[in-house]
Amino acid sequence: MKPRILTGDTPTGRLHLGHWVGSLENRVRLQEQYDCFFLLANMHAFTTRADKPADIRQDTLEIVKDWLAAGIDPDRSTITLQTEVPAIAELTWFFAMLLPFNKVMRNPTLKTEIETKGLGDTYSFGFPMYAVGQCADILAFRPELVPVGEDQEAHIEMCRDVALKFNQLYCGVGNRVPPEEHQTAGGAFPIPKALIGRIGRLPGIDGKQKMSKSLGNAIMLSDPPKDVQKKINKITTGRQSPTEPGDTSNILFTFVRAFIRDGARVAELERRYAAGDNIGDGHVKQEVAEAINTLLAPMQERRAKLDGPAGDDVVIDLIRRGTRRANTIAEETLSMAKQAMQLDFGPRTLG
Ligand code: TRP
Repeated sequence: MKPRILTGDTPTGRLHLGHWVGSLENRVRLQEQYDCFFLLANMHAFTTRADKPADIRQDTLEIVKDWLAAGIDPDRSTITLQTEVPAIAELTWFFAMLLPFNKVMRNPTLKTEIETKGLGDTYSFGFPMYAVGQCADILAFRPELVPVGEDQEAHIEMCRDVALKFNQLYCGVGNRVPPEEHQTAGGAFPIPKALIGRIGRLPGIDGKQKMSKSLGNAIMLSDPPKDVQKKINKITTGRQSPTEPGDTSNILFTFVRAFIRDGARVAELERRYAAGDNIGDGHVKQEVAEAINTLLAPMQERRAKLDGPAGDDVVIDLIRRGTRRANTIAEETLSMAKQAMQLDFGPRTLG
């Protein structure tokens, strides 16, 4: 049996390069060695957009299309939908009891989101609850690894806390047992690890905040080559001329290192830029845009085949198939958790 991976995306629209370098690239790469579960976190979308069910539905389908375009192989990996895995909702309740309220509210990822999305103090009760739900998303599948971008680290840390606490409280695992030995010591849950991407946090083309569709600073995986070049051209470095020694820690070079995959070429560009060796920003931008377009071309080719309602049907079918498999595992987890909590009155019968 292969070790498992669980990760997911909240359907907020199409995916961008930040998703790719933060997590998607790792998912595609690890499909061979791991039994992968990719979760569509549509419930989480409702925590801030409860008034937009049609948008959330469409965004959910779009994300699957982006996943498939990026190289997720539905014959090897399992694609599943949060709202059709009831064990996740049930585990969320149990886990909510293991986390101090104020600790959830201090979660830095939630705090940042409240700021950047301008949620003020009117966000729903469900909004901070999603962080607890994310622990359940993960632990329902008892994975070893969770590939995510850097911004998700606080959530994975909370998930680890919950798993440790559960195992100690209900499975008799001692306080001094190291995380990696929890399961052999009788714990119901593994203590999963975050796997942060090559570039944990890709800035947007504004060079200020992280890349995000809602901030208007993103290059989407579906952007045509001309748009990619236009967007890259918008990056500002403040450098005046090709002979001015440049700072290779600037945002343009973050993109160089993220997307030009020939290490020798990157080193050469860095050397010449730093020395002001007659190399202009315009030239560097052109090479970056070319590298990005080379990465995106095969994705866009695959995606074109999934456009429109016929593609929707293919996707819905994959979700159904994946969700059956996901529920087998999640129900097994739930029943283990209930046993441990002395809630062993099942199996339940409905109807
Ligand atoms: N909160 C994650 C994001 O915004 C998406 C997500 C939901 C997730 N459930 C998850 C990621 C479980 C990893 C594991 O990107």
